[in-house]
Amino acid sequence: METHKAHCLIFPCAAQGHINPMLQFAKRLQHQGTKITLATTKFFFKTLQDVSGSIAVETISDGYDEGANEVPLDTYNAVFQKVGSENLTELILKLKDLGCPVDCIVYDALVYWALDVAKSLGLRAAAFFTQSCAVYKIYYHVYAGLLKLPLEESKVEIPGLPPLLASDLPSFFSNYGSYPPIFQMVAYDQMKNIHEADWIFCNTFYKLEEEVIDCTSKILPIKTIGPTIPSMYLDKRLQDDKQYGLSRFMPMTNDCMPWLNERSTSSVVYVSFGSLAELDAEQMEEVAQGLRTSNYYFLWVVRESESNKLPKDFVKETSDRGLFISWCPQLEVLAHKSIGCFITHCGWNSTLEALSLGVPMIGMPQWIDQSTNAKFVMDIWKTGIKAQPDETGIVRRDVIHECISVVMEGEKGQEIRKNADNWKDLARKAFDDGGSSDKNIKDFVSELIQS
Ligand code: UDX
Repeated sequence: METHKAHCLIFPCAAQGHINPMLQFAKRLQHQGTKITLATTKFFFKTLQDVSGSIAVETISDGYDEGANEVPLDTYNAVFQKVGSENLTELILKLKDLGCPVDCIVYDALVYWALDVAKSLGLRAAAFFTQSCAVYKIYYHVYAGLLKLPLEESKVEIPGLPPLLASDLPSFFSNYGSYPPIFQMVAYDQMKNIHEADWIFCNTFYKLEEEVIDCTSKILPIKTIGPTIPSMYLDKRLQDDKQYGLSRFMPMTNDCMPWLNERSTSSVVYVSFGSLAELDAEQMEEVAQGLRTSNYYFLWVVRESESNKLPKDFVKETSDRGLFISWCPQLEVLAHKSIGCFITHCGWNSTLEALSLGVPMIGMPQWIDQSTNAKFVMDIWKTGIKAQPDETGIVRRDVIHECISVVMEGEKGQEIRKNADNWKDLARKAFDDGGSSDKNIKDFVSELIQS
């Protein structure tokens, strides 16, 4: 006999940076007595290297069970919407037949059509925003026609946000026309039915974005439920929750953790550009030379598909100070005492993880939301600095060298470290008993069972 209070079907976008936050949210709901089923595409599930943890996973077809590498994104999205809607409906009906009816679909806002599936089956639906509230405020501003594109001014004023330069905006807006299908998804598709969602959750925490959250709440009733990182790195109330549990890449834990154990406190520069970014060879060369002249130990995640861009012989020549791995357990690394700073692309998950673990950042944003995140890291939260690119868009070696010196040494570095410690404390408080995110999650579960 099942004793759960309600059943939520979690439906993230099939990408590492989207699965991680929604999986963590699911674990929090499960801890509150909710039954969870996570649905992902058959192809994405096949590519996972590490499948562990307590969440039940079901797969559906997106129309491309053998992968869609060569398929244009707009074609993929259209097929996914059609085939995915049918298959998601079938999955929900199957779960009902098995005696496990679904009460609510928690869907990644990018797969906005899941809301229509929920409504057609008489279910409730919660939209999940995986990025910062500031970024969604900008998306909504564009959707509502309040920010005209292409940009006519070099400065942008949006209520609730600090004044932004064009270069601080998400890349589809600052570089208008650069990724039309993604522009369509973020600035139109995900917003057009958002007001029909029963709940809207955002992976942030109240103190982090207080002003923009208050302002956005007047238009979209968002609830903050972040930072969505495993409990053992935050409030420590979910004893088994030490890692995310679904990973596209196999972490090389046994290679990097013993190496870090041999390093002294705050002596290592950790470098990673997340699961998607593709730096060109020239940028890789500049990062490499910046690290070489900095003379610090460094741990650099270079995904297998990127490794051919490393300068020739660089690995061999820096083997006394550098360790290169194709993927690491990032939370374990960031929490390690030896890490002095994090050179990051400022993906939202990496940013939240560094904030929650008190690690100073050097931002090298590449695309999507990352420039906006880097702006906040540097100017609002003051837990890092942005490595400024030159007019060709490349961050040069001397800039990287200088940024490492600033963050690892001197007065400014100490100030950044102090701020980072403060945000770490506030992130944990959001998840302590009665904290803002803890409360929003508990309220959601009680609303689910009452109605
Ligand atoms: C993408 C976008 O780039 C990002 O801007 C957006 O906010 C979410 O989708 P990604 O580029 O992968 O994500 O970056 P990020 O959001 O930082 O997510 C990467 C995740 O992979 C993090 O949770 C990080 O902990 C994990 N990771 C990264 C590892 O576990 N090991 C690694 O070696 C590198």
